Amino acid sequence: MSYIEFVGVCKDYPAGDGVVHAADHVTFGIEKGELCVVLGPSGAGKTTVLNLLGGMDRATSGVIRVGDREITGMDARRLTDYRRLDVGFVFQFYNLMPNLTALENVELARQVCQNALDPREVLEQVGLGSRMNNFPAQLSGGEQQRVSIARALCKNPALLLCDEPTGALDSATGAQVLSLLTRLSRDFGATVVIITHNASIAKLAARVIRLRSGAVEKVKLNKHPLRVEEIEW
Ligand SMILES: Nc1ncnc2c1ncn2[C@@H]1O[C@H](COP(=O)(O)OP(=O)(O)OP(=O)(O)O)[C@@H](O)[C@H]1O
Ligand SMILES: [Mg+2]
Repeated sequence: MSYIEFVGVCKDYPAGDGVVHAADHVTFGIEKGELCVVLGPSGAGKTTVLNLLGGMDRATSGVIRVGDREITGMDARRLTDYRRLDVGFVFQFYNLMPNLTALENVELARQVCQNALDPREVLEQVGLGSRMNNFPAQLSGGEQQRVSIARALCKNPALLLCDEPTGALDSATGAQVLSLLTRLSRDFGATVVIITHNASIAKLAARVIRLRSGAVEKVKLNKHPLRVEEIEW
């Protein structure tokens, strides 16, 4: 059994008089410590799958397991704990609080989570030790995304979920962010799931899940994932 398991997961959203099958019998597994990329065209169900995995949304049917826990069977309270304590989220547009400094943004994570890491140390690790007291507007896009990764990492999560983390970045800054994410899985054993539109980024991953129209079209295992310096994009 894999660390993460989706078994016949469906998610329907109401749309007009009918429903949209945003996830349509989705089944896959992801191993612990793996870097996994989720690819697929717009509307394929990538964000839906990530939100279900992160406990931000509930499946209509099917089973989702993470480790020895069944996410789909959790009551609201346990689901909140799971979201707070076990999952780190990185969004495309960073979602930082504009009126808080980089350090204060990362400190937010400590308020929801007891096993949090030291926010200053985590900011050092993402290369922002000298920018802690800057506000988001004083930082570049790549720096803001690194603050948002630091905020997710500060929770010391077993699972890091990233929705288009480099979508708003130029290629050089995107490469910095991707190096950081690959290092987390390789050196720290975090399970990292990255949604992207960019097929080149898939070459970094040990597992690539391709979605289309809410369903898994293909799963590809990569025995020799490339390093960030080796991909072109
Ligand atoms: N809250 C919602 N209510 C209604 N429909 C939704 C909702 N969320 C998603 N959908 C629909 O579900 C389908 C899958 O959406 P999803 O956001 O998962 O796609 P995606 O693969 O992440 O696309 P993108 O690459 O554009 O971000 C789409 O048709 C979308 O319109
Ligand atoms: Mg999306």
